[in-house]
Amino acid sequence: MIDLYPLLRPLIMAADPERAHTLTVLALRLGLVPGDPRPDPASLATTVFGLRFPNPVGMAAGFDKNAEVPAAVLKLGFGFAEPGTVTPRPQPGNPRPRLFRVPTAQAVINRYGFNNRGLEEFARRLEDLRGIGWPGIVGANVGKNKEQEDAAADYAAGIRRLAPLADYLVVNVSSPNTPGLRTLQSRDALAALLDACLAARTATGTKTPLLVKVAPDLTDEDKQDIAAVVLDSGIDGMVISNTTLARPAEIPADLAAQAGGLSGRPLMGPSTRVLGEFYRHLGGRVPLVGVGGIASGADAYAKIRAGASLVQFYSAMVYGGPAMVGRVKQELAACLARDGFASVADAVGADHRA
Ligand SMILES: Cc1cc2nc3c(=O)[nH]c(=O)nc-3n(C[C@H](O)[C@H](O)[C@H](O)COP(=O)(O)O)c2cc1C
Repeated sequence: MIDLYPLLRPLIMAADPERAHTLTVLALRLGLVPGDPRPDPASLATTVFGLRFPNPVGMAAGFDKNAEVPAAVLKLGFGFAEPGTVTPRPQPGNPRPRLFRVPTAQAVINRYGFNNRGLEEFARRLEDLRGIGWPGIVGANVGKNKEQEDAAADYAAGIRRLAPLADYLVVNVSSPNTPGLRTLQSRDALAALLDACLAARTATGTKTPLLVKVAPDLTDEDKQDIAAVVLDSGIDGMVISNTTLARPAEIPADLAAQAGGLSGRPLMGPSTRVLGEFYRHLGGRVPLVGVGGIASGADAYAKIRAGASLVQFYSAMVYGGPAMVGRVKQELAACLARDGFASVADAVGADHRA
């Protein structure tokens, strides 16, 4: 098939960022973006949560909020897809504009606020996929509606509906764009929430792995508390991290003033440090998904050495397009080979053993 993406790309970058994103999802839905036909290097295959991943590089949440294109995302070469965040009821999210590129810093600021078409439509899409043939590893990222005061009820609803459909579930308590959401990361609130989530999963009769996704903006005490709750609860893993509220110096002042979460290159260092701290607090006993600022195989490798069993990215796609996926994988395989690791699993947490 002809690769039309290089032709579309200038149009996409010239467009308003939210429209560019909508166009990209549409192009994927229409099959206009060709997949990566190269087989994955054997060293990249890895088993985490009892699931066999062809490679450890996933598409992060927020790209495919309504589970419209998980199969197309996997065809690009990602080892797994994570549609969502989905909330029980459809909601419009914040007023536009709510997505901003920061090209000089290879970064993005967003304040979407969980715009999505709701759990039912999302679940039906996954059911349809189950009907025609499951394309690979597809998780689901769940959240709560803005107006819902009983947060646990919303997360439990998402888990009840999606645990029988998705390969894993992520409890997202770290978006900065839903008022009060991040307070669910405090010790008692998180313990109660994760108990409710695990009970909701038990009620489905499944053992679908349940992960919690945290912010990078946590105090040392927060991190210790969260790690203790994670170990206590028996949850299966963590995703580290969501976007940051910080505005490092490289963000121009006019854009730094925009409310929302910052992602992309400036998040690489901070999110990897937080990942490493959680790895240490958890004694390597809980699998971690490292996300934040990955734009190369060396970045992915750094997260793996810091303790990630799997990695994800999103913002680098905004600047590098789908070719990023193959590049990150090839470079990661080269990093592993250079340092004498036969597999990803062998390199997980290597920095803590050095
Ligand atoms: C436009 C945009 C929308 C996002 N929406 C979500 C979301 O709905 N749920 C979620 O858990 N994370 C969401 N994220 C956060 C990403 O999944 C990821 O954690 C973060 O962007 C850091 O990775 P990156 O630097 O590779 O983009 C979003 C990120 C961006 C840029």
